[in-house]
This record gives sequence, structure tokens and C-alpha cells, in this order.
Amino acid sequence: MNYQHIFDQAIERLHEEGRYRVFIDILRNKGAFPNARCFAGHNGPKPITVWCSNDYLAMGQHPKVIEAMEEALHDVGAGSGGTRNIGGNTHYHVELEHELADLHGKEGALLFTSGYVSNDATLSTLAKLLPGCVIFSDELNHASMIAGIRNSGCDKRVFRHNDLDHLEQLLAAEDRDAPKLIAFESVYSMDGDVAPVHAICDLAEKYNALTYVDEVHAVGMYGKRGGGITERDEAAHRIDIIEGTLGKAFGVMGGYIAADKKIIDCIRSYAPGFIFTTSLSPVLVAGVLASVKHLKASSEERDAQQLAAARLKALMAEANLPVMDSTTHIVPLMVGDPVRAKKISDILLAEYGVYVQPINFPTVPRGTERLRFTPGPAHSEEMMRELVAALVEIWDRLDLELRQAA
Ligand SMILES: Cc1ncc(COP(=O)(O)O)c(C=O)c1O
Repeated sequence: MNYQHIFDQAIERLHEEGRYRVFIDILRNKGAFPNARCFAGHNGPKPITVWCSNDYLAMGQHPKVIEAMEEALHDVGAGSGGTRNIGGNTHYHVELEHELADLHGKEGALLFTSGYVSNDATLSTLAKLLPGCVIFSDELNHASMIAGIRNSGCDKRVFRHNDLDHLEQLLAAEDRDAPKLIAFESVYSMDGDVAPVHAICDLAEKYNALTYVDEVHAVGMYGKRGGGITERDEAAHRIDIIEGTLGKAFGVMGGYIAADKKIIDCIRSYAPGFIFTTSLSPVLVAGVLASVKHLKASSEERDAQQLAAARLKALMAEANLPVMDSTTHIVPLMVGDPVRAKKISDILLAEYGVYVQPINFPTVPRGTERLRFTPGPAHSEEMMRELVAALVEIWDRLDLELRQAA
């Protein structure tokens, strides 16, 4: 067996398909986001503007967050020193779980080391606790939900994206008495569209199914206190389990679920991905705590982000760039080919100091490769105009298709 050859071939396939991943080597400038320094392929650090960060509200740079982390570091040191069960249950963890439960109007919350782990650990454990459970999963669900569903060993039915008729057909085809779970996202982060949360809950009630929603791209950003789309749409009470990340709008790291006490108790007690791992550093948790508290009280960042996203979409549309329909803060620009998407991204970085990562298969379906911009409160009108001018020049240089002018 020539192992080396097999690995070479696997990597070669990625190159041939134009989706070999190159990680851009950057350092963000504290307090000056979206400005950063880029190290890869240049002589010395070069200033760049970041356009693809999921630190959507720049909370990872917020003085309150930095201060809370510094204080925690000096007060209790770097790490938690254990699993939640063995020495790693710091008071910061306990307090943050109370904040998150309150954010979603739930009895309890549970922290994980990432959003990925929270989806994988919760979905796999929950469904294992329900013998014969059938999981209904939106076809565009994130890889971490798919992993959790697969690891549960349950039967799964995939419904067409946001297609209520298809979901109902699949629900109706199952035994009425079988346990059921509908798993979906609120904001789909590659297209920027939103799930019909109430209509899904109506079906869940009709067919007696549990509901699980991933609010990773919505928490902090939607709802009066940042409780996500389920808060904005006043649907949180109709959802059994709300899952979120602490690494995107909250700006730090970690993941969580919020649910009633019994469900939290079960996951806490049965999920290997929660039990057998060192808990998050108290320094990180202190930062998240400051961030969640701030965003519960302040809508300034959310409002500024929405204005920035609307403005960038309008500027792109005016320039006839193929900006995709998105009802949220995500601004995807369709390219439709992995090699070209990479080329545009390379030119932007090398010639314009603009950093936007191309999004390829398997993150999006083949043929829908795109650039995904995430403007936030700190992206100025001037930055947006410079970005759009650069894109127009590159579109022209590479002879790419523009939208038909309205
Ligand atoms: C929809 C969705 N769920 C979960 C995750 C995982 O969250 P985290 O980055 O905190 O692991 C992501 C990450 O990109 C995501 O897009």
C-alpha cells in the first residue's frame, strides 16, 4: 500500500477542482477592526481590510470584552483546569449559562467548546435518548448538525430547503406515535435567507415533533436583546432547543444550547462531547459574558450592521454586480466557478488589500461558488465604495458576467 500516493492524489483532486484551501495569515489590529495585517506572500505585514469576518459586530474588539478578559486572566489565570464535572465548573461558566437561558427565555443553558460541538453533541445525544426517533433535517443544514444527526444513528428525512409542503409530506408519512425532531437553522449563512420559524412550529405541533434551531448566524444580531430570529419573530417559546455560538456576533469562542431544565440535564449527563472535554477557559467565558450583557442592552451595533449590509447590497446592485438576494446581514456575490472565485479573491488581496475568502464546495453546492461579504458597524461608506470599485474593475478585467441593468 502506497499511503503517500493516496494522500498526493487526494490533494491533487482538490487542486484540479480549484478548491484547495489556502489559509490567509493575518493579525487583526485591536480597536481598529476591520483593519488587519496580512503576512502571507508579501514582504512583511501588509495592511488589509477584512470583509469576511464572522465577528459580525466587532465585539471581539469591544473595550468591555477586552477588559473583562484581562481582568479574568489576572484574577483566575489562563485555563479552567478540568472538565465541568472535575474542577472546571467556574463561576463564570455558571453565570454565563444563566445569561444565555435568560436571553432565550428558557429554563437553562449549557456551554460547549464550540458551536460545532454543541450541535454534534446535542443532536446525537438527544435522538439516542428517544428510541425510534426520526429526524427531519433541512437540506442546507450545517455540517455540524449533519454530523450530530449521523452520529445519533437515527433515521433521517431531508426536506427541501425551507419547503414546508415537503416537510409536511415527510412528517405525515411517519408513524404518528414515533418520536420526531425537526432540525433547522434560522439564518442560512451562505445565502442569507431565513427559515419560516412559526410555520415550522405549526407543523411540529400538528405532528407532535420536537424542534431544534441553530441560531448561530442570528444570536446577538436579531431581536431586541440579541436573542436571534426566534426573539425577533416572538417564537422562542415554541422552540424546544435553541443552539448558538459565542464565536461570531458575540466575538469570542464557544457554543451553547438553551432549553428546558430536563433537556439540559439530559444533555449535561449523557453527551460525551460535553462530558469528556476540558471546559472553556474562564478568560473566554468572561469575555462572552461581557459581550452578551452588552448586546442585551445595546442595539447600536445591530442597527449599524443592518445599515451597512443594506448599503453594500445597494452599492453592488447599482454597479450591476451579481449580488444574491439576501434578507439578512450576509452579502453573497455569485461567481459560479471555484477557480474564478479564487482568482477574484487573490486579486483583491494582492492588489487592493481587500480580504474576502472564496466559498467553495462542500460549503456551498458546486456551480454556486461565491464571495461572501459580512459588512459590520465598522465598515465605512468609503471602504464600501472602494470595494465596489475594485470589484467592478476585476469583473471587467476577467470578463465576468454582470447583472442586467434594471
Ligand atoms: C450554521 C452553523 N452552525 C454551527 C457552526 C459552528 O459554530 P462554531 O464556529 O462556534 O463552531 C457554524 C460555523 O460556521 C455554522 O455556520
